[in-house]
Amino acid sequence: MAVGIFDSGLGGLTVYDAVSKRLPDVPTVYFGDNAHAPYGVRDADDIFNLTTKSVERLWEAGCDLVILACNTASAAALRRMQESWLPDDKRVLGVFVPLIEAMTERQWGDNSPPREVAVKHVALFATPATVSSRAFQRELAFRAIGVDVEAQACGGVVDAIEDGDAILAEALVRSHVDALKRKMPNPEAAILGCTHYPWMEDTFQAALGEDVKVYSQANLVADSLGDYLERHPKMLGTGTESMFLTTGDPKTVSDRATQFLRRRVEFISA
Ligand code: DGL
Repeated sequence: MAVGIFDSGLGGLTVYDAVSKRLPDVPTVYFGDNAHAPYGVRDADDIFNLTTKSVERLWEAGCDLVILACNTASAAALRRMQESWLPDDKRVLGVFVPLIEAMTERQWGDNSPPREVAVKHVALFATPATVSSRAFQRELAFRAIGVDVEAQACGGVVDAIEDGDAILAEALVRSHVDALKRKMPNPEAAILGCTHYPWMEDTFQAALGEDVKVYSQANLVADSLGDYLERHPKMLGTGTESMFLTTGDPKTVSDRATQFLRRRVEFISA
């Protein structure tokens, strides 16, 4: 029994970290497609092809259930995967819905019609591909009315995090928050719509100000995975071994992951 966690690179480790704390007995196989990160500047076909190839590798490792811990893949490829690619005995879950349910104060799977919610002005920070897909706004419109979303494509932030350049990442986050505030001066809530961004959450919060509620996905996704596995225990798959796979250089990726997670992590070649 193992659950697969996929990201273009190091961002999905924010989700892995929350899952390993919430479900310590569930083995996980992490796959970082670091050789091809960032995905956020690629087109939808490219993202679909890279994501499906990575997910197939997770199936080989015994994971019947894979979390796309990547908003860009969830936004640009998940629907196509579910509609025309996924075999009946496999499941792939994205990261948008748990976040939107939390923001719109809904219980899991509450499919009642959209209604007014407390928050009215929301800033969305995400990759260029996620922003241009408008997937977040689409999912939100199924659940809430009257919410004004201003999206900011945060070019460069994922590259800086992947390269381990914290100073550049911080400077870019501050300039993207400034750009957002020029369009929406007083957001009530901010969505970190890329799983890399929680590594920079303090910088986002400081630049936005303490009054802005910052939503990030890791714990929400871990909770919703816990619920899902209670309802679908068979989806745990046949894998029994936890491991970290990368298409990038295992040593560099292991060192960066160790720095982020603050414990030693060993990646091996995918
Ligand atoms: N962590 C991915 C996401 O959540 C990063 C995408 C990228 O590689 O640009 O969108």
